[in-house]
Amino acid sequence: MLVHIPNLLTGEQVAHLRGQLAGADWVDGKATAGPQSVGLKKNLQLPQDAPAARVLGDIILGALGQSERFMSATLALRVFPPSFNRYDPGMEFGTHIDNAIRFVKPSPGTGAAIRVRTDMSATLFLTDPADYDGGELVVEDTFGIQKVKLPAGDLVIYSATSRHHVTPVTGGSRQSSFFWIQSMVKDEAARTMLFELDHAVQGLRRQVGDNEQVVSLTGLYHNLVRRWAET
Ligand code: NI
Repeated sequence: MLVHIPNLLTGEQVAHLRGQLAGADWVDGKATAGPQSVGLKKNLQLPQDAPAARVLGDIILGALGQSERFMSATLALRVFPPSFNRYDPGMEFGTHIDNAIRFVKPSPGTGAAIRVRTDMSATLFLTDPADYDGGELVVEDTFGIQKVKLPAGDLVIYSATSRHHVTPVTGGSRQSSFFWIQSMVKDEAARTMLFELDHAVQGLRRQVGDNEQVVSLTGLYHNLVRRWAET
């Protein structure tokens, strides 16, 4: 499954994030790469514990909380704190699959790290496509190869079981935020069906209102979530 969420952030929010990122201290992205991807990852990243990353990440988390499409597509239980990366000319990220489990560092004085199972991967584009060359996110989805390069403020979510890569940037600079989602519904086929059912029921409700059948289908959706979700 690959889901596009247009305008997750407003133009003003994108401008604010870009302004903050312009003055940030970027480090080598290999800092958070696993042993396999360390040789493939050539980009820059904000340190996860950089104060700016947390503040800007919270803006993104707030926008996700407002997005019905995000919730419907992911049935999110946990969202890994958003990270930020940058690809300058010559930078790329070779084909890989993301680590299955990520650890959120605890704030000082608060217990153990929180584990996040990465069911879905997300990229939030922060640079307009006209401002850089190359730098496409290429996802090997079950339906074939998908090339993704979206307007600033748009989000793409895809199954973290997918092989994917970022093609070399050949001009300009590409900035984005990336993060992972642990879904309440671990099984991807079940999660995909719930998303399609929710989408269809919402469309039907807009057409015919809440008649008996729409109420019944809505109930069926919730009963399937009850059956499959783990919280
Ligand atoms: Ni990845």
